[in-house]
Amino acid sequence: MKRAALVVLLIACRGGVSEDPPVHLIHNMDTQEKARPYRKDTSGLFPNGRFMQAPPEGTVAVGQLNDDELYEDGWDLNPVGLDGGATGRPDFTFKFPPQVQLPDGGIDEELVTRGQLRYGVYCTPCHGVTGNGQGLVAQKAFDGGMRLEVPPRDLLSQAAKDLPIGKIYASMKVGVNNGNMPSYATQIPTHDRWAIAAYVRRMQGVGFDGKPPEPPPDVNVVSVALGRFYYKNRGCNACHSLDGTKVVGPSWKGIWGQTHKTSGGDVVVDEAYIRESILDPKAKVVDGFAPVMPPPNPPIDDTGIKSLALFIKELKE
Ligand code: HEC
Ligand code: HEC
Repeated sequence: MKRAALVVLLIACRGGVSEDPPVHLIHNMDTQEKARPYRKDTSGLFPNGRFMQAPPEGTVAVGQLNDDELYEDGWDLNPVGLDGGATGRPDFTFKFPPQVQLPDGGIDEELVTRGQLRYGVYCTPCHGVTGNGQGLVAQKAFDGGMRLEVPPRDLLSQAAKDLPIGKIYASMKVGVNNGNMPSYATQIPTHDRWAIAAYVRRMQGVGFDGKPPEPPPDVNVVSVALGRFYYKNRGCNACHSLDGTKVVGPSWKGIWGQTHKTSGGDVVVDEAYIRESILDPKAKVVDGFAPVMPPPNPPIDDTGIKSLALFIKELKE
């Protein structure tokens, strides 16, 4: 008898395939009544027989109040006008909400870096790496295939620079002009929208503090100030840092007089090389970098080029 039981046991372990449900001797809590979305409520708990329930009227789920118009919508309910007084008319904010500011009111560089990454993911296809509206989708949009109603906005244009920061934020939350640009609310959470908005400001060379951009220095006189102005105003700062950090292009810190290895051989960084770099960026591509530098558009005149060279030279000291 004992032997027979052993044989049966061994046969049971042969690994055969069976259509029958496994024998489940001790259930513990393996099978139990539980709520699953889209399943019928068999527990009788909910009168309408569904597990998925709308929140009771007048209630808000924890953490989903979203009643902060400034942070959630980019709206300033009580904006200050140019004369310093309240306008009494809610409008898009020119200031970043406190949630994304440092205690001193500044913007954390980490937020800008985060924004740059997210911009690269979601915005470059249409607005391009530099923000000039010449992304791949934009280039292909009008020759069959992909379809866009209007071209993506040049985010470096004066009009885009003049946009309140809240409007840039809102473009991602609700889209632009009734779907010409779709909403990215589901892909990009609130905090990241502000990070991207901060990076758009950085590309635009517009400060974070909501003040109108600085007036240009005399554009007919070569000066360090004019060089610095073009650096910010023409978006060089989107790719070139002044503090040694490598962004898209090489930092300008201390490069004056250095010898650089390029696709055109060794060159000394002087005014002639800087002029060529600006007018014909692909002529000599610095080793270790991609040939992605755009020639400035609109072009920078000779006074501007000399000023940029002077500005770069001054960074040496
Ligand atoms: C599918 C292409 C596409 C993508 C991706 C896209 N945009 Fe746009 N964007 C557009 C188009 C098209 C317009 C111009 C709409 C118009 O003029 O009606 C526009 C306009 C804008 C404007 C101008 C808003 C205004 O009120 O004038 C801003 C700011 C902007 N986009 C920011 C962004 C940011 C930031 C991202 C990334 C999160 C992004 N866009 C991603 C197509 C796109
Ligand atoms: C989209 C990013 C981008 C922008 C915007 C940009 N550059 Fe560049 N730049 C680069 C890259 C990448 C390189 C290195 C590759 C090369 O030489 O083309 C470079 C190289 C240079 C160099 C040579 C630097 C060296 O170390 O040898 C100069 C000078 C320069 N850029 C000037 C400018 C000026 C002036 C502007 C603004 C008008 C500007 N760039 C805007 C990406 C950019």
